[in-house]
Amino acid sequence: MSRIIGTTFADKTAVVTGAASGVGAASARRLAEDGAQVVVVDVDERGAEVADRVGGRFVRLDVGDGDAWIELVAGLRAGGGVHFAHLNAGILAAREPQAFLDMPVERYREMIGVNLYGVLLGIHALAPAILDAGGGAIVATASVAGLLPYGGDPVYAATKHAVIGLVTSVAPQLGRAGVRVHAICPGGIDTPMVTDRQKTDLAGRNRVMLDPTEVADAVAALLARDDSGIVQTITKEDGVCAVNIPTTLG
Ligand SMILES: NC(=O)c1ccc[n+]([C@@H]2O[C@H](COP(=O)([O-])OP(=O)(O)OC[C@H]3O[C@@H](n4cnc5c(N)ncnc54)[C@H](O)[C@@H]3O)[C@@H](O)[C@H]2O)c1
Repeated sequence: MSRIIGTTFADKTAVVTGAASGVGAASARRLAEDGAQVVVVDVDERGAEVADRVGGRFVRLDVGDGDAWIELVAGLRAGGGVHFAHLNAGILAAREPQAFLDMPVERYREMIGVNLYGVLLGIHALAPAILDAGGGAIVATASVAGLLPYGGDPVYAATKHAVIGLVTSVAPQLGRAGVRVHAICPGGIDTPMVTDRQKTDLAGRNRVMLDPTEVADAVAALLARDDSGIVQTITKEDGVCAVNIPTTLG
């Protein structure tokens, strides 16, 4: 995807969660290349290396912890404000698909904490600060499993459906106020979340995975839009990156 963002991110502060790995690390790099000061948020200390590489700052934070969000945002306000966020941290119930009844409920609570509360708490804490900084945008990473059933991990699918429901429902009111909110729904992405066995299996079926940089480019383009409430799918079809916008709520 070509650079269409212009000066949108120049000297602006962008928070990226789940940025120690995969899509988040690519998003942090992409936004930094476009001039943003990136706050790399993750529970994994490897986020510090990503922050070094992009000239940003690492904050170790569990996205499901509301108090931690409030503390982070207070620091951002004191440091000049915040304008953009990619709320991207996410987990599966297990490395490999498991039967629904075989997983302990506690693991489902953890997943809801990261995948849904991580977005809800992030929007709730960040939006007022973004408004005070003059407006901006937030993109949440959902999944095609937020639009379709996913039998391999039903509660993962439930959290991603919920993220889309939250984003599309809150987008009109926040968008009118000056914080544009969108969701991105990728298909399979070549990141550590997908096991080598699954990658081999997909390759054997001639299924091509997205590169994290392709998702990062789409996130940057969404952050730069001037509308609110886009739910954008991004998949690889016949080896070509296909970006669709099935839903628009202004
Ligand atoms: N990989 C795929 O095929 C795929 C497809 C569609 C959507 N997604 C979504 O993309 C997003 C990024 O996933 P990825 O593929 O880059 O996976 P990844 O495992 O490479 O990265 C996820 C990151 O989230 C971090 N994280 C986990 N729990 C956290 C918490 N409580 N607080 C802060 N950070 C936390 C991890 O430490 C990790 O760095 C996720 O929301 C995932 O559901 C992935």
